[in-house]
Amino acid sequence: MPLNVTINGELADVSQIDPDTPLLWALRDHLGLVGTKYGCGIAQCGACTVWLDGDPARACQLPLGQLEGRSITTVEGLAGDALHPVQQAWVEHDVAQCGYCQAGQIMSAAALLERNPFGKWMSHVHSRAFGETSPTRTSWMNLWR
Ligand code: FES
Repeated sequence: MPLNVTINGELADVSQIDPDTPLLWALRDHLGLVGTKYGCGIAQCGACTVWLDGDPARACQLPLGQLEGRSITTVEGLAGDALHPVQQAWVEHDVAQCGYCQAGQIMSAAALLERNPFGKWMSHVHSRAFGETSPTRTSWMNLWR
């Protein structure tokens, strides 16, 4: 039986993968998208966060067979020709510590800013504190574009 999902904007036939396989393992072991990480496997840590139809979701808890026709975005698909503003801010601020769960954090932060005017407010606060031409302000401004 065909099983098609859109992954990072590309239609993918994943019918050769056991439909009980969690999306996390389909991405990592079958599709080579290893940016999404395994942490706990029980929807607690967020390391495996992807977007499911634009909303953050725990890939460790999503059986592939339930995703027919759905759209998945991984951290690899978040950037276009350049880094996503959240990824750029991550770099500018040296956010990564061990870096293991940062993909999940980036996906969650980007999803939050997609639907929240906080980025606009944060840019205003930053420009008042550091000036209009700060590179960091530019990153914040890009967050809500
Ligand atoms: S691996 Fe921890 S929430 Fe999925």
